[in-house]
Amino acid sequence: MESSILVTGGAGYIGSHAVRALLRAGKRVVVLDNLCRGHRPAVPQGATLLDLDLIETDAIAAALREHNVDRVLHFAALTYVGESVEDPLRYYWNNTAGAVSLLQAMKQAGVSRLVFSSTAATYGDAVASPIVEVAEQNPINPYGRSKLFVEQILADVAKSDPDFSYVALRYFNVAGCASDGSIGEDHKPETHLVPIALQVALGQREAMTIFGEDYPTPDGTCIRDYVHVEDLIDAHLLALDRLDTPGGAVFNVGIGRGYSVQEVLDAVRRVTGHSLPAKVGARRAGDPAELWASGDKLRSELGWSPRYDSLDAIVETAWRWFQAHPTGYAE
Ligand code: UFG
Repeated sequence: MESSILVTGGAGYIGSHAVRALLRAGKRVVVLDNLCRGHRPAVPQGATLLDLDLIETDAIAAALREHNVDRVLHFAALTYVGESVEDPLRYYWNNTAGAVSLLQAMKQAGVSRLVFSSTAATYGDAVASPIVEVAEQNPINPYGRSKLFVEQILADVAKSDPDFSYVALRYFNVAGCASDGSIGEDHKPETHLVPIALQVALGQREAMTIFGEDYPTPDGTCIRDYVHVEDLIDAHLLALDRLDTPGGAVFNVGIGRGYSVQEVLDAVRRVTGHSLPAKVGARRAGDPAELWASGDKLRSELGWSPRYDSLDAIVETAWRWFQAHPTGYAE
């Protein structure tokens, strides 16, 4: 039987874009998603959807065997920093214990190749930008720790098993939607800057609140590194090939340039033609002033070359999706 790739979290924002790219590349794809935050209609046609929880180790091992899976892309996770502070156990259970369960299932089924979705939140806020992969990791919230623990577990597993190989990708700020408008972003609740700004442009919210204008940055607002979701998925496809090299590797995924909140709002104003009223509010707890990547390692070692290098181009793809799906996926 032809081999397939397991995509956990394939009904989510980023996972669904991965499924689509893999199907387009002619791969067989099995999606594992418990649909607690994902959307059934987000799973592109042609993929097999398994409604399983990460913690169901034996069922996952059986599915890995049944579908002849040889590689795993592990996206499934909870990703709200604030929620992780309020309910840390839920994050350690889903993100950390869930990954351990998945690794157990892979071991049972003899699957030894994994790409893991890690995060810039593992660096914390003490590190100077641009952030290189060898920078100290000192996460400041349970979300970041739940992911850092998995990175450490992966390193231990690779040390203990010479057949095991993995790539951990530390995402910076992922934004934008499929360039053809077919799939997109639908978070409930929505907390991210670009979608919230587009909801203002759609008239669903009255105004933006800028979380703090007194940061030590040129315009006083926070600086982040925005990477288009399709460029992020390209990094995953390159990482899948890198799994033929034994051991583990870690890469930042960011374009290597920071934009302030004000610059993002200006891009949304240009793209939508909406005045986008914005008031300045208090700082949001846990927001570092500046967080942007050195993308050098990913470019030089894996040959990654992001197609979207302007904020306007990224926002345009998201705007197309939000205009066509103002309330997200119809379920
Ligand atoms: N922001 C506002 N107003 C809003 C929403 C956001 O001013 O209504 C600001 C934030 O304070 C921040 C910037 O816009 O300065 C970006 O915020 P997002 O919530 O879009 O993204 P974050 O940088 O907070 O989070 C991202 C990922 C997280 C990850 C984190 C790592 O989405 O999963 O980077 O620090 F944990």
